[in-house]
Amino acid sequence: MKLDNKCTSLFQKILQVDQILSEFRLKKQELQEVMRRMQNEMERGLRLETHEDASVKMLPTYVRSTPEGSEVGDFLALDLGGTNFRVMLVKVGEDEERGWKVETKHQMYSIPEDAMTGTAEMLFDYIAECISDFLDKHKMKHKKLPLGFTFSFPVRHEDIDKGILLNWTKGFKASGAEGNNVVGLLRDAIKRRGDFEMDVVAMVNDTVATMISCYYEDRSCEVGMIVGTGCNACYMEEMRTVELVEGEEGRMCVNTEWGAFGDTGELEDFRLEYDRVVDETSINPGQQLYEKIISGKYMGELVRLVLLKLVNENLLFGGEASDILKMRGSFETKFVSQIESDTGDRKQIYNILTTIGLMPTELECDIVRLACESVSTRAAHMCGAGLAGVINHMRERRKQEMLKITVGVDGSVYKLHPSFQHKFQKAVRDLTPHCDITFIQSEEGSGRGAALISAVACKMACMLNQ
Ligand code: BGC
Repeated sequence: MKLDNKCTSLFQKILQVDQILSEFRLKKQELQEVMRRMQNEMERGLRLETHEDASVKMLPTYVRSTPEGSEVGDFLALDLGGTNFRVMLVKVGEDEERGWKVETKHQMYSIPEDAMTGTAEMLFDYIAECISDFLDKHKMKHKKLPLGFTFSFPVRHEDIDKGILLNWTKGFKASGAEGNNVVGLLRDAIKRRGDFEMDVVAMVNDTVATMISCYYEDRSCEVGMIVGTGCNACYMEEMRTVELVEGEEGRMCVNTEWGAFGDTGELEDFRLEYDRVVDETSINPGQQLYEKIISGKYMGELVRLVLLKLVNENLLFGGEASDILKMRGSFETKFVSQIESDTGDRKQIYNILTTIGLMPTELECDIVRLACESVSTRAAHMCGAGLAGVINHMRERRKQEMLKITVGVDGSVYKLHPSFQHKFQKAVRDLTPHCDITFIQSEEGSGRGAALISAVACKMACMLNQ
């Protein structure tokens, strides 16, 4: 009798856990609805008359489809957008078989918190200091190199080397940058130092850099996507429908800035209590709502909030959370990947939970794993619905029976999570009949892409000057 009671209560507990986690499961119809709304916002972002109010900004990048060929030589590439800042030296050379080859040397610099959230001058002075250090190390201070800047935030471009920052995302907050020309801020900081010179020739988003670097591997690559600290995608759009830029011929890469999807209410019926808390306690409430469901900056925190909910319902850890688990940000996104990579003996899960002050039973390890899977699977499916929206939009625009396309992808969540990739790709394919999609991962895409586009920009500049 006693045993029976125990079994019943265990069974009830599991049912209750499942009920809480079931909110994260999205049906195919729901994903189709997300995809439809994404396509609708994309349309609104592209049109002049609706652009202002659209959440998905569809920003023209001035990266065009017309191949002009590229310069060869040394280029410097900067990559700012995640938790680190990278400086790279990229040698673009000719290769008999593939037409080009690149070699890189790079160095990573971590960005101090006060540079991220202080003033724009402080942030760009720090960047200039890192470049100076890099040039010293490679004994290149005397050279005035062309520079490509991967700047992974929403930028309204006026040309490939000119654009204003619309708003910061991903925990950056340096004051005095929003509304200003980013390349100007960089040039001013280099001038202030006065110990080296640079010729800033191109600024690109990381999605664009990823697409470009993959394009050199596969000429069908016309989409770039990042699922890392942030989440975003770009693709090649017909010039005639990019209403913000004059001209009809060819294609231009559009940076969708889809992370802001939902900011004008399109995701309200999908957002859960945990999403609302993550947003309210973030540095940019009300902004980047789609990104907050998917990307690495928020995934761990979402799991932490789900775990606290289970604790509060007395379904986990005897109803008692540890002091660490109660702290915002204490459950890192890498824990989600590590927990889901556990081979079944629960060792990895146990180790992680003990480092945050918990003593889990085997069943509790399994429940924590289920919580992680719920959050990351929803992220993969939501992201898949967004990309399916982009690809269906492209097929409709191009009026093709069958669209054959390659997507270049980068980002820590995509690359390091054990099942995100697979679940994401399946969702995209389920939602895009009549499309033949290849996914490729970019290696060092952010830096290489910036250097390659700079090489193209240099060639164009030479041709214009002739
Ligand atoms: C930014 C995008 C960027 C993405 C991935 C987002 O927060 O707004 O510009 O591409 O993160 O890094």
